[in-house]
Amino acid sequence: MRSGADRRLVIATHNPGKLKEMAELLGPYGFDCVGAGALDLPEPEETGDSFVANAELKARAAARGSGLMALADDSGVVVPALGGEPGIHSARWAEGPGGRDFRRAMERVARALGDNPDRRAYFLSVLSLAWPDGRVRSFEGRVHGTLVWPPRGDRGFGYDPMFQPDGHAGTFGEMEPTAKHRISHRAEAFRKLVAAMGWTRG
Ligand code: IMP
Repeated sequence: MRSGADRRLVIATHNPGKLKEMAELLGPYGFDCVGAGALDLPEPEETGDSFVANAELKARAAARGSGLMALADDSGVVVPALGGEPGIHSARWAEGPGGRDFRRAMERVARALGDNPDRRAYFLSVLSLAWPDGRVRSFEGRVHGTLVWPPRGDRGFGYDPMFQPDGHAGTFGEMEPTAKHRISHRAEAFRKLVAAMGWTRG
């Protein structure tokens, strides 16, 4: 088990889907995890122009605000046929009068693609780990696949029901969380982070 200061870790997100996945990924490594919302940390504005810039900005803000180590994710779905959109704007594509709605975001993507036969897409995640003294380290993961329409499955979050990873018959929305964790963009970035930090289970 970890002890003392290096055991407590803030998961720097207000997104419940990400919070759940990041807590599940961190679970085996013996951290005492707390979400940014539970600590009343403000959600910083994502003013960066890249996934790395936004992940680092969120991790640094949470580490500074809490005095603890903080892990942030910036992620999104990149669609080459749409010039890389929604990309870093993936959360924004869900915004509307009643707040964020990913059914609407998925419809916007489907409409923008129209009858374009190129349905390729990838999810990208940058995980940034920051310390209260301002140090930060970042790691990237990707998973490639195809966008399907209509969406299938009600597991996961965000764009999961319209994303079918290469080599699989189901969408992320239809997969068990453990199956998604084996291949997801976030899991790949997390494996790199664990290797670089030398974290061990238990
Ligand atoms: P942000 O990183 O908070 O700017 O938000 C990224 C957005 O990308 C999320 O709100 C989701 O809509 C989408 N996204 C990121 N990762 C995933 C995933 O694993 N599944 C589905 N959607 C995702």
